[in-house]
Amino acid sequence: MSSHSLPISSLLALFFLAVLTKVPTILSVDDLQVEFQVAAESNHSFIVLRLKRKSLSNHPLQGDKATMEAFIKKFGSFAPKQYSYREIKKMTNKFHDNLGQGGYGKVYRGKMSDGRFVAVKILNESKGNGEDFMNEVASISRTSHINIVTLLGFCFERSKRALIYEFMPHGSLDKFIYSQGSNNQSRQLEWKTLYDIALGIAKGLEYLHQGCNTRILHFDIKPHNILLDKNFCPKISDFGLSKLCERKESIISMACARGTVGYIAPEVFCRNFGGVSYKSDVYSYGMMVLEMVGGRKNIDVGVSQTSEVYFPSWIYEHIDQSMNLNLKAIIAEEEEEITRKLIIVSLWCIQCDPCDRPSMTKVLEMLQGSLQSLVIPPKPFVSSPLRSPKIKE
Ligand SMILES: Nc1ncnc2c1ncn2[C@@H]1O[C@H](COP(=O)(O)OP(=O)(O)OP(=O)(O)O)[C@@H](O)[C@H]1O
Ligand SMILES: [Mg+2]
Repeated sequence: MSSHSLPISSLLALFFLAVLTKVPTILSVDDLQVEFQVAAESNHSFIVLRLKRKSLSNHPLQGDKATMEAFIKKFGSFAPKQYSYREIKKMTNKFHDNLGQGGYGKVYRGKMSDGRFVAVKILNESKGNGEDFMNEVASISRTSHINIVTLLGFCFERSKRALIYEFMPHGSLDKFIYSQGSNNQSRQLEWKTLYDIALGIAKGLEYLHQGCNTRILHFDIKPHNILLDKNFCPKISDFGLSKLCERKESIISMACARGTVGYIAPEVFCRNFGGVSYKSDVYSYGMMVLEMVGGRKNIDVGVSQTSEVYFPSWIYEHIDQSMNLNLKAIIAEEEEEITRKLIIVSLWCIQCDPCDRPSMTKVLEMLQGSLQSLVIPPKPFVSSPLRSPKIKE
């Protein structure tokens, strides 16, 4: 108490206000709260004076400050720039331009004070205790690669959390690979562009698996998490589901399965298939590349299991047919070769047993080598397609 100097005039004013209005009046001085309240009992009225020390977490930004100081101490120069929520509001022109919505929040277009365009991901307030958020900040700030999206800053003000990324003018890859009738034809990419995108993503993943000081496993590789810059250079985004693990660890234990239905490796939801490791990302990569080739979802979650045609299964049956896989507009021989390469490599990537899948380094070698040197893999599934449990759609 002695460290606080309560202004007498304010206290008197507060007292009379409470008496006159019969409404509780509150005055805050530093971490102390003074409350006057008129209470009535039988025919008597009396004034209740309450002195309350505010808890640390009620104090604006006090708890965050400690967390952030610990974070900055841990990551030093790798820690990206922190922005206040007020700055975020200004940057996004009060959240005017919505770019999309994911499982963790909304993404808005914004502009930095230096004129650079950014994408600001505002995380849902209710989800988690900030662990995923700090995970994403920590993971991305350790990376620097042409095929990994750059994190320019973040905001962490109690429940207000945001990530600021470089803006990708073409958005996410999913918009370019699923053909939805003739109107959408113009959005389809050339085979060579698809091949370059697949190659770029493989380079980004190889970097995450082999090139950083700490191996980063992504666990949510899918077309929605691949962003395209103005030259269609692919950038892997969304590390919120990633888990940092030491380089020497090749298999990690996970309390619960992570990922998205259709791309999640079998061992992630059923340990009988083997341990969870960087090979789980290889599986997701393979499923994604098959979708790029097929121009459709491998597993259409809206279609009943019995009537659907499982694309990986179909393509495996047709791969050794000499020419024309009946895929969209393959014209030149070179395109046919690119397509076959993409198919064979991705069929290797989606092998059930993680040990049979190549590393991303091997994937790059196969993609860049000759088609003739590639061996057709064994059938990647036992009989019927493996359907992932509904974890996140
Ligand atoms: N850096 C960026 N530049 C441009 N657009 C972006 C950027 N980041 C995200 N977007 C857009 O915002 C959309 C939503 O992204 P978000 O990551 O929140 O959701 P998602 O990838 O669909 O799902 P998930 O929550 O599983 O990641 C994307 O599909 C993309 O179109
Ligand atoms: Mg995403």
